[in-house]
Amino acid sequence: MLQEVVATRYVTPLREGGSLPGIVEADDLGTYVMKFTGAGQGRKTLVAEIICGELGRRLGLRVPELVTIELDPVIGLAEPDEEVQELLRASGGLNLGMDYLPGSLGFDPLAYEVGAAEAGRIIWFDALINNVDRSWRNPNLLVWHGDLWLIDHGATMIWHHNWPGAQTSAAKPYNASDHVLAPFGPDVAAAAAELAPLVTEELLTEVAADVPDVWLAAEPGFGSAEEVRRAYIAPLLARAADIHQRITLDEPAATRPSRAPGWLTERLPPRSKPAGGDRAAAAVRTGEEGGR
Ligand SMILES: Nc1ncnc2c1ncn2[C@@H]1O[C@H](COP(=O)(O)OP(=O)(O)OP(=O)(O)O)[C@@H](O)[C@H]1O
Ligand SMILES: [Mg+2]
Repeated sequence: MLQEVVATRYVTPLREGGSLPGIVEADDLGTYVMKFTGAGQGRKTLVAEIICGELGRRLGLRVPELVTIELDPVIGLAEPDEEVQELLRASGGLNLGMDYLPGSLGFDPLAYEVGAAEAGRIIWFDALINNVDRSWRNPNLLVWHGDLWLIDHGATMIWHHNWPGAQTSAAKPYNASDHVLAPFGPDVAAAAAELAPLVTEELLTEVAADVPDVWLAAEPGFGSAEEVRRAYIAPLLARAADIHQRITLDEPAATRPSRAPGWLTERLPPRSKPAGGDRAAAAVRTGEEGGR
């Protein structure tokens, strides 16, 4: 079970997010990025956030803590933005929250170096969950206190939109050529050897149990929330066993940004002169000889 909190204040929308997530404060004094059940992307996106986010965390990847947030739409009444007001009105009840990482930066492959082992683990994990949303256009990785954090697992497990074809779809390859970590020499084989044995039926049962009943109960073709939870297990188990053999990593296209090759330190523009003070230092920076 995820921790359950109650929203006490809607702070501000996050316009970068396609689903218009918002920052909210809750009754545990925490600040969360809230994803709304009333958003156009639908409840399945939130189910995917929980199953994949909790799975990633149990595999040792950094994923901010997830909680469920109870929302009384009345907290949005003072909200001036009509789009936000509508979203809050449509989202009464349980929603998803992710611990807000204050001061985090969006990952930039030109500025931050990632090791082959970590890049391999993240790409293997994204192949497992079929994540189409970790490209260099939309990395969904944050850098916080010098570490990489994984966010936004809503666009994953494409097969849960078509259950009859789930097992076949789960056998499909994963093209990682566009993945933001593709240029970092990802050691996918090592990641598979380390992580695949951890993906067991018990572990998957545990992460599926974190999804609230109300987001599963109305799933067409199933008799109960528990039945839907069980349906997630076989495709993920099958994929964990051998997906590493079906990950493609083509040469990155010439038009895309590459990795951090010391680019920042070599090409920083010259710093402007300090306003008075240390003249020797200023002379070094402008290429003059000091001590004249
Ligand atoms: N836990 C967090 N801490 C700090 N900032 C966050 C956090 N989660 C998300 N953000 C910020 O909010 C933005 C939108 O979040 P997210 O990608 O999860 O939303 P989304 O609606 O699913 O986005 P999209 O589908 O457009 O990628 C992120 O790009 C990031 O800048
Ligand atoms: Mg995103």
